[in-house]
Parts: sequence; C-alpha cells; structure tokens
Amino acid sequence: MSNRTFTMIKPDATQKNNTGAILQMINAAGFRIVAMKTTKLSAEKAGEFYAVHAARPFYAELVNFMSSGPITAAILEKENAVDDFRKLIGATNPAEAAEGTIRKLYASSIGENAIHGSDSNENAVIEGDFFFSKLEQF
Ligand code: GTP
Ligand code: MG
Repeated sequence: MSNRTFTMIKPDATQKNNTGAILQMINAAGFRIVAMKTTKLSAEKAGEFYAVHAARPFYAELVNFMSSGPITAAILEKENAVDDFRKLIGATNPAEAAEGTIRKLYASSIGENAIHGSDSNENAVIEGDFFFSKLEQF
C-alpha cells in the first residue's frame, strides 16, 4: 500500500470549467494536493503518457483528445491513495460509474471521461515523475 497517486483533470473537464468542482471533491475525500500544474500536452507527450494503450483501437482518438486542450496534473496523498482514488473517480465508462463518483457527475463518454487516476503504486510514481521533477515533489 502506498500513500500517493497521480491524477489528470482531462481536457473535457477543463473546457467545461469543472476543474474547481473536481478539486473540491478530491479534497473533500481526504486527498492532499502535494504537487499540481495546469498545462497542455503535445500529441507526442500524450502518446508517450498512454503508450501502454498504443495497440488499442482507440489510441489515436485518445491521443488526439488528451492533446486537444489544457489538463491539470497533480500528485495526491492519502492513505491507500491508488485504490481510494479509483473508487472516487468511478468506472472508465460514465454509464457504468457509481452514483456520486467524479465520472458519473462530470464525464460525458468513455473517451471524454473527465479525469485520470493511476492504476497501481508503480504507475503512480512513473506518472508523477512524467510531469514533476523530484524537486517539485515535496
Ligand atoms: P485512465 O485513468 O485515464 O487511465 O482511465 P482508466 O484506467 O479508467 O481506463 P484505461 O486505462 O483502460 O483507458 C485509458 C483511457 O483511454 C480512458 O480513460 C479513456 O479516456 C480512453 N478509453 C478507454 N477505452 C476507450 C474506448 O473504448 N474508446 C475511447 N474513445 N476511449 C477509450
Ligand atoms: Mg488507466
């Protein structure tokens, strides 16, 4: 069990001005923000971030979407962070997401699903390092 995870508020949620409401839910659920930045991914960077999905049929769509506008990236801290955060964001497809989850409230489709959450402790570290230098991760 690790106490950190990584998240990105995706371009659809940024575009709809839902960043503040989502951050409020994240804080209310007990996560501390230990590093955060709003930035825009190039297609190359988005492709690198989601390289694990390179062989999937939706990869081009995913890369195109993730580089379509600004995102907010953050490292979050809480006991049991990875699992608890996945519960807070809900299922990948908002149609299957539980009531009260971030994706149920703010995602519009399986592709444009408002927020990312790391799926393991190992990936949380890799993804945090992708966006933040060690000096920024206090
Ligand atoms: P992330 O937290 O973003 O990693 O989502 P996830 O772990 O719930 O899902 P997964 O890692 O399997 O997929 C990564 C992202 O690819 C999803 O969040 C979606 O944005 C996108 N994606 C997954 N499946 C589909 C699909 O069938 N169609 C499209 N267009 N996008 C998809
Ligand atoms: Mg994933």
